[in-house]
Amino acid sequence: MFLVTGATGDIGRRVVRLLRQQEKPVRAFVRLTSRYSELEHRGADIFIGDLQREQDIQKACQGVKYIISAHGSDSDALSLDYRANIELIDQAKANAVEHFVYISVLGADRGYEDAPVFKAKRAVELYLQASGLNYTILRPAGLASNLLPLAERFRETGLYLLIGDPKNRTSIISTDDLAKIVVDSVTVPGARNQILSVGGPEILLRKDIPQIFSRIFNKEPVLINSPLFAIDGLRGVLGLFNSQAQAGLGTFRTLLANEFFCTKEEIANLERIFNFQLETLETFVRRYLAD
Ligand SMILES: NC(=O)c1ccc[n+]([C@@H]2O[C@H](COP(=O)([O-])OP(=O)(O)OC[C@H]3O[C@@H](n4cnc5c(N)ncnc54)[C@H](OP(=O)(O)O)[C@@H]3O)[C@@H](O)[C@H]2O)c1
Repeated sequence: MFLVTGATGDIGRRVVRLLRQQEKPVRAFVRLTSRYSELEHRGADIFIGDLQREQDIQKACQGVKYIISAHGSDSDALSLDYRANIELIDQAKANAVEHFVYISVLGADRGYEDAPVFKAKRAVELYLQASGLNYTILRPAGLASNLLPLAERFRETGLYLLIGDPKNRTSIISTDDLAKIVVDSVTVPGARNQILSVGGPEILLRKDIPQIFSRIFNKEPVLINSPLFAIDGLRGVLGLFNSQAQAGLGTFRTLLANEFFCTKEEIANLERIFNFQLETLETFVRRYLAD
């Protein structure tokens, strides 16, 4: 039995689909408010709970052989990115789980002081490595599926909002390729007890993205480039009445202010370990949105 947290998220729901296509038994950890009917129709066992509650995690882990941690944090990095994963790892040990796959983030080890999600993910990586469990830690760059709403808006209006330096490099990963890597991590020997950077096959400048959309939708891009200090202004105001949201914006700012790309060697290594060719952002967006 596979336990998948974040089963209704961008990565998690693709992971559940793949596992069910392979007729593997899956327990999908969802909230009562989550949109989980698709997972149910695909034959996943639905476990309703909240990752902020230890008892729910304990129950969900009973009798599972593999755990895939793919949940997000709703800007509460301490209880979800950190505590829920520590509890999942403890329960994995208690239930003699055979393999734990953890979705971290590219740059988790760069020591970004102002980004609680990055700090939580690094602490969880270290805890998992020291746990004695078999593990695979995946550090993805930005997900291609995040860009689908922007691509749809571009298709309608030609507008593209870019915050920060347009020359920053990024290795956007196809969310479908990432899901395949997640699922294969429990069986592929080269993925065992590894930390792997996960990005797409090309290093893009952020300003390349509207150009890609322009090619797909045959529309001239109207680029709106907002400087980073717009975010800093917003953070200052938010801090006056919501410190948690202010901290969440710290992670967002870190994502916008820095480069997140994989080297050619890292990508070649990934394609060798998992034995398939990664798709480009352009191919991904065309598959979802081009007529
Ligand atoms: N998006 C990216 O570009 C990116 C890049 C690198 C790494 N990552 C990491 O990849 C992981 C998955 O990202 P994603 O973009 O696929 O996530 P997502 O689409 O934002 O989905 C988050 C998932 O977590 C669930 N969740 C949130 N709080 C919960 C709680 N208290 N109890 C139970 N479930 C809860 C959500 O359930 P509901 O459906 O109920 O909301 C949803 O299924 C995250 O750890 C993220 O940090 C993402």
